[in-house]
Amino acid sequence: MSVIEHIKSRVSNPLIEDAEISDETICTLLDTAVCTAVHYNTEPWRFLVIKGDARVRFGNFLAERAAAEMDDPNDPLNVMKLTRMRKKPLRAPVIIVAGAAKSDNPKAVMVEDIASVNCACHNILLASDELGLAAIWRTGSITYADDVASFLGFENGTKLVAFIYLGQPARSSISKTRKSSYYFTRWMEK
Ligand SMILES: Cc1cc2nc3c(=O)[nH]c(=O)nc-3n(C[C@H](O)[C@H](O)[C@H](O)COP(=O)(O)O)c2cc1C
Repeated sequence: MSVIEHIKSRVSNPLIEDAEISDETICTLLDTAVCTAVHYNTEPWRFLVIKGDARVRFGNFLAERAAAEMDDPNDPLNVMKLTRMRKKPLRAPVIIVAGAAKSDNPKAVMVEDIASVNCACHNILLASDELGLAAIWRTGSITYADDVASFLGFENGTKLVAFIYLGQPARSSISKTRKSSYYFTRWMEK
């Protein structure tokens, strides 16, 4: 399949088996991630691979911080919410967390570095697709909370952009019909 065909056929797939994927495969994906365009060569890409029991530890952290915001964490509805929160990281055997590090280069523009990391995440999605893996980019408010980035060990100033859930597909993904770029594009020729 050509690169163009791959890009056009990729879809997110949240239906992921809880079966391990090899570290070598994860490294292959990450090596595609650091091949994105980047201004001033700031190399802003930072990744954390969460797998195994670390997913449980992360789920517990998420539930504890959510509980701290609740008036009554023992209320049955809240208990259900916290259980759901605790289990979220278990939706895939591997989560790649991607962030943009704050550069020391005075010329660096954070929004550009974040753009480069976003491209890196898309490379991971495309490469996963080529390897027959299921992948989905997830965010939510935890992505933009400094205490989460800090718990995950990212350097101060790093902005998280994605939690990419990865694994073997539990069900094959459903192909999508996309709109033509025609609807989103103007041309200026004179
Ligand atoms: C920045 C970003 C954040 C996203 N966050 C979520 C999310 O929190 N939960 C989710 O189910 N999907 C999330 N997605 C995946 C989108 O829902 C998905 O890409 C969209 O439905 C288009 O489907 P496709 O990827 O199959 O083309 C996110 C995608 C991007 C680019």
